[in-house]
Formats: sequence, C-alpha cells, structure tokens
Amino acid sequence: MIISITGVAGTGKTSVARELAKMLNARVIHLSRLTEKVSCGYDKVLRAYVVDTEKLRRVVAGEVKRSCENHVIVEGLLSHHVDSDVIILLRLSPEEIEKRLKKRRYPRVKIKENLEAEILDQIYAECLERARNKKIRIIQINTTGKTVGQIAKRIFNILRCKNYRSAQKVCGVEVLGDYVDWLEKYEKYIIEWEGR
Ligand SMILES: Nc1ncnc2c1ncn2[C@@H]1O[C@H](COP(=O)(O)OP(=O)(O)OP(=O)(O)O)[C@@H](O)[C@H]1O
Ligand SMILES: [Mg+2]
Repeated sequence: MIISITGVAGTGKTSVARELAKMLNARVIHLSRLTEKVSCGYDKVLRAYVVDTEKLRRVVAGEVKRSCENHVIVEGLLSHHVDSDVIILLRLSPEEIEKRLKKRRYPRVKIKENLEAEILDQIYAECLERARNKKIRIIQINTTGKTVGQIAKRIFNILRCKNYRSAQKVCGVEVLGDYVDWLEKYEKYIIEWEGR
C-alpha cells in the first residue's frame, strides 16, 4: 500500500510518518528531500521551491518501485499529488499552526499563507480533486491536542479496518476520520491579520 501523508506546514506530517512507519514496517519517502531535484524554480518570498508535480510523481513512482517493503509512506506538503492508495490529511487548529510556525521563525507571509490554506480547506479540496474518479480514499485527522503516538495509532486502526462502510462520500470520494471546520476563525486569523 502506498500512503500519502499531507497537510499544511507544521501539522506533524514528518513526525506522524515516522511513528506510523514503525507500526506498519513501512519505508518513508520524505518529499522535502526530493523537492530540489523536482523543482522548476525558487520563490524567494515564500522561501520555497516551486515544484513540477508531474516530475515529482515520476520520481516518487521510481522510488516506490525500488522499495522492497510492502508499505511505503510518502510524506510532505505535496504528497497528495503522487500516485497513492490512500491520502492521510492532517489538520491542526490555526492557533497551534501559528504557534509552531512562529517558533520556526517562518516569515509572516508564509505563516499567513498556511493559516489561510488550513482555514479554507485548501488541501482538503485538492485531495478531493485528486481522489475523484480514482480508487483513492481520504482519511482526515484532526490532530489538535493529540500526541504523535495517538495520531499514528488512530490512522493505523482506520487502515487496518477493512470495513469502509462508515466512510462519508464527498464528491464521490470516500472520506474517513474527522469532520473539520475552522471557518469561524477566518476573521481572527485572516481579516485581522494585518493589524497584529
Ligand atoms: N502531535 C503533536 N503534538 C505536539 N507537537 C507536535 C505534534 N506533531 C508534531 N509536533 C511538533 O511540531 C513541529 C512540526 O512537526 P513536523 O515537522 O512533524 O511537521 P511537518 O508537517 O512535517 O512540517 P513541514 O510541513 O514543515 O514539513 C515539530 O517541532 C514537532 O515536534
Ligand atoms: Mg516535514
């Protein structure tokens, strides 16, 4: 099984991938280590590589082919663009995202961009788009207030459960896990942002 772990910056993708890999005896592919290789430019303001997603998909497919493990976890902000069987989407409250990214001294523009993406379900929408008409399931986890161990165990249990009848169908895609809605935080985190 190929498992993507995605989410905005600081939601715990790398930490959860490592923990889940121990439970599944899986190999982890960290996309952050490949971005330079698959980039088509560098954004100085956001301090981030601009990635060619087609190239990323090809490079990851090659890495997966070379893996001898039964399960491969691909973790990173763009992991929902690679070819996988299931997408794990990690969600985190805007308060906690802000705290974690400020601790990392991210530029304000980058913190705002990530908060906006989280509050407006941007990655969730991209996951639905990607999974539509394909046999890809989405597992959305609200990680707020949970330890890395608890999050990995929850994902492990959902993956192990072969009965997906509890899944909601959203735009024809099976979505398991938690319902998340941060929209009420829009005013505080986005509209009032400039004054803070
Ligand atoms: N469940 C958690 N509870 C508390 N702290 C956490 C949790 N998960 C991750 N962290 C901490 O938050 C920070 C960000 O975690 P991590 O690097 O795993 O996130 P990430 O999603 O991989 O970030 P990036 O998008 O930058 O790669 C780290 O300092 C990590 O120790
Ligand atoms: Mg990471």
